[in-house]
Amino acid sequence: MAWDLCAWLSIYLVWDSSKAHPYRGEFVAASVVGEVTVSLAAHGWPHTDAGREARSEEAGVRFDGRSVVRLLVNGHSHTLRLEPRVTLVDALRDRLGLTGTKKGCDRGECGACTVHVDGRPVLACLTLAVMVDGAEITTIEGLARDGTLHPVQEAFLCCDAFQCGFCTPGQVMSAVACIGQGHADSVAEIKEWMSGNLCRCGSYPHIVAAIMRVMASGRDRWVASR
Ligand code: FES
Ligand code: FES
Repeated sequence: MAWDLCAWLSIYLVWDSSKAHPYRGEFVAASVVGEVTVSLAAHGWPHTDAGREARSEEAGVRFDGRSVVRLLVNGHSHTLRLEPRVTLVDALRDRLGLTGTKKGCDRGECGACTVHVDGRPVLACLTLAVMVDGAEITTIEGLARDGTLHPVQEAFLCCDAFQCGFCTPGQVMSAVACIGQGHADSVAEIKEWMSGNLCRCGSYPHIVAAIMRVMASGRDRWVASR
């Protein structure tokens, strides 16, 4: 009710002031609008940031537009406060320091940012961190176990499947998914399922050879390494 009284008192002042001086009346009118707006916001008028902020402060919660996001990355749990616009690749690289995941195009064209979310390959630059709240995420840093490289990583080394290495983390993550999902039974199939990962150095034949090498060494070994 306080803002009701405040508003009525201000309207009376406008009327009274405008009789004495029209410009002063306009000034007071403008003040009234601002005063009533602030008063409405402070009392939780819906759909305004100020209203939400006032209610949040009353509840002892600071309103800053960020969300609490829980990420389980490579077996470690992290709780972050992030703006909703933060992508998964930025959360991994800038907030968790996991810079193995690369940001190439930042628009879903190159595959350099590929990570696994609940076992499925996703482009981290097209995924908002809030979308994967509570999900299990694996990055290139999480593939090796107890100091032993993942068979796909070993095969990339053996087959010289990289030059500058910038695309390699994304290639490896996609290759692991390609084999794991059963899409690596032929060269044509591997090319098709790896087509979302670009390599400016042109290491494609060696990447395909690395995946074929893993398949030749037995998918059972690969499954055991997971
Ligand atoms: S950085 Fe994500 S697809 Fe290129
Ligand atoms: S190894 Fe250089 S971009 Fe692929």
